[in-house]
Amino acid sequence: MDIKDRILKLKEEKNAIILAHNYQPKEILKVADFMGDSLELCIKAKETSADIIVFCGVDFMAESAKILNPEKKVLMPEIKGTQCPMAHQLTKDIILKYKEKYDAPLVIYVNTTAEAKAMADITCTSANADKVVNSLSAETVLFGPDKNLAYYVQKRSDKKIIPIPENGGCYVHQSFTIEDVKKAKEKYPNAVLLVHPECNPEIQDVADVIASTSGMVKYVLNSDEEEFIIGTEKDLIGRIEIELEKLGEKKKLIPLSEKAVCKEMKQISLEKIERCLLEEKYEVKLDEEIIRRARKAIENMLKVK
Ligand code: 13P
Ligand code: SF4
Repeated sequence: MDIKDRILKLKEEKNAIILAHNYQPKEILKVADFMGDSLELCIKAKETSADIIVFCGVDFMAESAKILNPEKKVLMPEIKGTQCPMAHQLTKDIILKYKEKYDAPLVIYVNTTAEAKAMADITCTSANADKVVNSLSAETVLFGPDKNLAYYVQKRSDKKIIPIPENGGCYVHQSFTIEDVKKAKEKYPNAVLLVHPECNPEIQDVADVIASTSGMVKYVLNSDEEEFIIGTEKDLIGRIEIELEKLGEKKKLIPLSEKAVCKEMKQISLEKIERCLLEEKYEVKLDEEIIRRARKAIENMLKVK
């Protein structure tokens, strides 16, 4: 039996499911029960009847699955180096400082720690950030930690969006430059430029489409165009290819930059998934009170349609 079959067998024996974020490499996506963006993975985690959830992604994603399923075992195949750096930029102290200064609701991106979520009124993802903010009655909103996502929301809302902290962001998406766009467009003048809302404002402003990772997958699949420049983590291309293969279709997918790699997402391997299922580690453990409060913020988001 090869490693893929051993993983599938273990999954069945243990009534486990594997959830994988769209940035995982193809070989990991191929053993997953479900692949998705942060919002879809939250919804799947909430719906599952499995006893064990193996999460292939970064820390905040596995924590969200635990928050929504406190009674279940949520495992990460690796815990070393799988912390999303942006998620740790919004600390308790920063939140307290802003809450003291402003009487405004706190909307936070799911890319945050469980502790930060427990202090928020509502969470959001890149797929619903504008909807979440516009669903609130307040005129002013505290929004963190990604200032680029705050920029994206500000363009789609009449409310005053205050980014907290002032300079939060993702190193992968902030690395794209206008030079990258020029080079890609010169080589592929007819290609549609898709970017993630974590990209800097100057990149968002020249994009044809701004979307979450699954938003980009759907856009490519539904489009009549043939060429697409993908402005997010490079492995999203493999994720789109899986869907195109299922349909027997081929489209040209060009990474906006070959250097756009989230190293925190790449700490997982098939060997580590097998070990994770065999030894049932590493288990995500969170304080009960944090879970209770953070769950409210995530559930408030899931109610926004
Ligand atoms: P998505 O929710 O769009 O998949 O984004 C998650 C993420 O971490 C982007 O860097
Ligand atoms: Fe975090 Fe950026 Fe990696 Fe997404 S791409 S997990 S925001 S470091």
